[in-house]
Amino acid sequence: MNPEPPSPVADALTTSHTVLWRSEADTQAFATRLAEALRAVDGDALIALHGDLGAGKTTLVRHLLRALGVSGRVKSPTYAVVESYALPAFAVWHLDFYRFDDPQEFEDAGLRDIFASPGLKLVEWPDKAEGYLPAADWQLYLSSTGDTSRTAALQGHSARGAQLWSACTGP
Ligand SMILES: Nc1ncnc2c1ncn2[C@@H]1O[C@H](COP(=O)(O)OP(=O)(O)O)[C@@H](O)[C@H]1O
Ligand SMILES: [Mg+2]
Repeated sequence: MNPEPPSPVADALTTSHTVLWRSEADTQAFATRLAEALRAVDGDALIALHGDLGAGKTTLVRHLLRALGVSGRVKSPTYAVVESYALPAFAVWHLDFYRFDDPQEFEDAGLRDIFASPGLKLVEWPDKAEGYLPAADWQLYLSSTGDTSRTAALQGHSARGAQLWSACTGP
């Protein structure tokens, strides 16, 4: 018996939550659209960035911060855990929990207040603080598919997250 052909509707739904960046210029273009969408909501969002080392999490954040007007060096927070930016429009926190051995370190580092504050929170390695992070507006999974190509798959989102995604990927 032949298997059912894939449903075009299901395919469309799945692919509508995945984007392909063929080069870093595509990543930058996506970040620029995201910056615009975030301005419209005063930056109030929590974006969880998943993916292996080198997938492009920090690179996406760098392009986003540039598009939001950060002019200085954008350091990866791998060692400091958090880098914060006081932009004229809203506050931004870029966090990286890669070095956490235990999710409890989230509490020990006193990060709870950040997530209770208005503004943008960008989190690399969110799974390492599992149980401590509030629900994210985006659960975004980045994967390397070649030297300069990456996929970004939205695998969970809030209502606000859906709105931001449409703004980034819509026509
Ligand atoms: N399309 C792309 N999007 C993002 N990064 C890319 C892309 N193509 C190549 N790269 C490179 O891949 C690397 C990604 O590293 P980084 O952003 O630090 O990853 P992560 O934070 O996920 O560990 C960078 O050297 C970046 O220049
Ligand atoms: Mg990184």
